[in-house]
Amino acid sequence: SSVRYPVICIDGPSGAGKGTVTWRLAQVLGYQLLDSGALYRIVGLKAFEAGLISADTSQPIDENAVLALTESLEIAFVPNNDSGRVDIIVNGQAVGEQVRNETVGGYASQIAVFPQVRQALLKLQQDMATRSGLVADGRDMGTVVFPDADVKVFLTASAEARAERRVIQLLNAGQTADFEAILATIKERDDRDENRSTAPSKPAADALLLDSSALNADAVYEQVKKHCQDKGVFF
Ligand code: DC
Repeated sequence: SSVRYPVICIDGPSGAGKGTVTWRLAQVLGYQLLDSGALYRIVGLKAFEAGLISADTSQPIDENAVLALTESLEIAFVPNNDSGRVDIIVNGQAVGEQVRNETVGGYASQIAVFPQVRQALLKLQQDMATRSGLVADGRDMGTVVFPDADVKVFLTASAEARAERRVIQLLNAGQTADFEAILATIKERDDRDENRSTAPSKPAADALLLDSSALNADAVYEQVKKHCQDKGVFF
């Protein structure tokens, strides 16, 4: 295991544009892509389906039960060029787009506070860097999962900018969207992810901080690319 492949970490809150830049970097570099949020989303969705998460977020969740469920899941990622994301296969079955919605994002954030659940997902994530270069998207990629990563970026945007992007996304998909409700949901999730005691969402000490509030996807990509080059990952 003397060969060490390059790892690029893109951390930050949802809606900051991590998914887009992560996908593009993985394509250009020919690296694997780790969508770590999808892991927490799968566990959140399965926990909800198993009746472990109630609609009332003030209800406690049984950590041991979520852990047992997490350990029963065999999760694989397959890149999907049409969607520009990875398809998720759980115990041999493709998981639908449902996993990407805001409700499931909330479940993910709720079970992501559990240290044992995070531990159970750690090796799967770290193993992805043992076969090729990797671009990893999440909250704790640069701080906990890949502390020795070659490149670390913490991509943020104001909650308002992120809510606005989400509104546009929903409207473009022909759905309805309530800006205030979306903003409140975003703030609640940020607050939980940033204030949990295990692996809170925060920039690594050596991360580039990038605020995308006033940047489009191309501008974000160019800045991240430049940072990669500064760190010796050339393309
Ligand atoms: O990036 P996302 O919106 O798909 O993530 C969903 C939730 O999963 C997020 O609110 C918190 C949790 N998460 C985490 O705790 N650590 C990660 N590395 C990625 C996601």
